[in-house]
Amino acid sequence: MNVPFVDLKAQYASIKPEVAAAIDDVLERASFIMGPQVAKFEQAFAEYVGTRYCVGVESGTAALKVALEALGIGSGDEVILPANTYIASALGVSAVGAVPVLVEMDDAYLIDASAVEDAITARTKAIMPVHLYGQVVPMGPILEVAARHGLRVIEDASQSHGAFWQGARAGSIGDIGCFSFYPGKNLGCYGDGGAVVTNDETIAERVKLLRDFGQKEKYHHLIKGDNCRLDSIQAAVLDVKLRHLDSWNASRLQNAKLYDELLAAAGFPVPKRHSDDGHVYHLYVTRVLNRSDVQARLSERGVQTGIHYPIPIHLQPAYAELGRREGSFPRTETAAREILSLPMFPELTQEQIRYTVGALTEVARPAREAAPA
Ligand SMILES: Cc1ncc(COP(=O)(O)O)c(C=O)c1O
Repeated sequence: MNVPFVDLKAQYASIKPEVAAAIDDVLERASFIMGPQVAKFEQAFAEYVGTRYCVGVESGTAALKVALEALGIGSGDEVILPANTYIASALGVSAVGAVPVLVEMDDAYLIDASAVEDAITARTKAIMPVHLYGQVVPMGPILEVAARHGLRVIEDASQSHGAFWQGARAGSIGDIGCFSFYPGKNLGCYGDGGAVVTNDETIAERVKLLRDFGQKEKYHHLIKGDNCRLDSIQAAVLDVKLRHLDSWNASRLQNAKLYDELLAAAGFPVPKRHSDDGHVYHLYVTRVLNRSDVQARLSERGVQTGIHYPIPIHLQPAYAELGRREGSFPRTETAAREILSLPMFPELTQEQIRYTVGALTEVARPAREAAPA
């Protein structure tokens, strides 16, 4: 049997006529840049997330960058974020000249709220919780620390489209939410794409200027903006796919439940989480001891897996300047050696899940650190 890690072709097959019509509409109107499809998707996504505004941009990294810029965060400022995230979270901070200050993760792979306060200095301007793997960070303690220290909260919701915490969708809880629509995300387009969501009109207006050369009116440049717009074809695709997101997320949840059952029965760690409520399982992460061997042997059996992420940010050459060494964030580092992301996408079948877990039990030794929850 063949079990891909993600199967974007299967998803495309299920929505092909809708996507074709949406793309054709852009082509017929030749409305490639800032066409009506962009505003249409922005409105639909704002409504979905539960914010007053959504501004489409060219990628998740661009979303983080313009969000920070819109908040006036720049050179010499510090932003606190988890060591366990994709490097783009930190790159967004670096892109505006600010310093990413990393903190340890909790048992559920998310920013450890108790470590945040210790990392605050006179230069701290914001906290960036990352809703990793599809689970929203428990936001109560983060919002409380932010309020007490007068800090902004920027949610990196790139892996959690549709996830929620206490009834609020990822991205709608802090000052600004940032999304990536990279093709493999729960809501992904057919190229690069991203968005910023907020309830604050001033921030939304600023982000609109920043994404489009600083202009509100053509050739009238109010500030030195960038060119990082969401293009109309991607917006049209996203508008179609947004209508399916809840049902796709529900399928992911079903798949996760079956993985939980089968893995727990086989003595493998199921992902630790704060709550199943609102989790959208962008990734399903277990832990094994002999990982590189496991990946190769699973691959021989037709099962593709991923690692999110094998080298923590503070141990990447790109961030040598942070002066952090091995041992700085032991939980993050141990996880980086053991985590293994199993195939996860809405169209994954029960047979494929059973086959994957069967193959895993043949080739892997479960990690000790993370006992089944
Ligand atoms: C947590 C996180 N933040 C930021 C990004 C960056 O998004 P993009 O690849 O669209 O720039 C990604 C995805 O790649 C991500 O997973």
